[in-house]
Amino acid sequence: MTFKPVRKAVLPVAGLGTRFLPATKAMPKEMLTVVDKPLIQYAVEEALEAGIEQIIFVTGRNKSALEDHFDISYELEDTMRARGKSLSALEGLRQKPGSPVYVRQQEPLGLGHAVWCARDIVGDEPFAVLLPDELMAGTPGFLSQMVEAYRQVGGNVIGALEVADSETDKYGIISPGKVYGRLTEVTALVEKPARGTAPSNLMIPGRYILQPEVMRILETQEKGAGGEIQLTDAMAQLIGRQPFHGYTFDGARYDCGDKAGYIQANLALALQREDIGPVVREFARALLN
Ligand code: G1P
Repeated sequence: MTFKPVRKAVLPVAGLGTRFLPATKAMPKEMLTVVDKPLIQYAVEEALEAGIEQIIFVTGRNKSALEDHFDISYELEDTMRARGKSLSALEGLRQKPGSPVYVRQQEPLGLGHAVWCARDIVGDEPFAVLLPDELMAGTPGFLSQMVEAYRQVGGNVIGALEVADSETDKYGIISPGKVYGRLTEVTALVEKPARGTAPSNLMIPGRYILQPEVMRILETQEKGAGGEIQLTDAMAQLIGRQPFHGYTFDGARYDCGDKAGYIQANLALALQREDIGPVVREFARALLN
């Protein structure tokens, strides 16, 4: 059976980034750099690698740096050319005409509301959601792996990663059914369950492939955990009506919305680099001794 291809990706980027103040006072948190690229670029590259043709940013006030980042900088390029400098560092930032698209989330009503803000551009086709705070390092990328799984099962495919029992109250949690390799049937979903009540320790990382029906559910979705309109609550209503699976990533997840996670991402990715890896490794060893 062939399923409609996933061509569009929604990237919610309207959040204020209060956990990273003062760094994020005048700069979007998505522009925080891991080695030499802003977080947002990792998410966009992961989406493009997975065959996504259109990126939809759900943005807010004070986020214009993101639009500039994915635009052409004539002044910069001309100057670099005139000085005989390579433009290779700017590769991958140009996208096809018509992509990216920016829509505004005017009120911080929650992730479900942010995704719903993209409904008119998503239209009547399956779409991906990527939360750029989470940097997923793997080959192929997380979304590519999920798209491959989606080609086999269709419906909705969301990330599914194990966390410690003490962490389950921070995330959307999956009630697992049958397991087929990296795929797990999802029988229920709960957003940020109270300590000791989680149905499993399979959390939902910020990667989703969803059917457009979720947009209709979000239309009337009541507020849930934290007084916010939760994507998890809307997704839960699709279970039983459409295929719904979790996919366990072969790779590493860094929560760059968290200071320790952000430092870990920088260290791990720096160590993998051919140019700076050896120097950083030597420094890290000396520091720990
Ligand atoms: C959001 C989702 C949650 C998911 C998490 C992943 O929560 O609501 O289901 O597990 O992202 O990072 P937030 O981190 O916005 O509170």
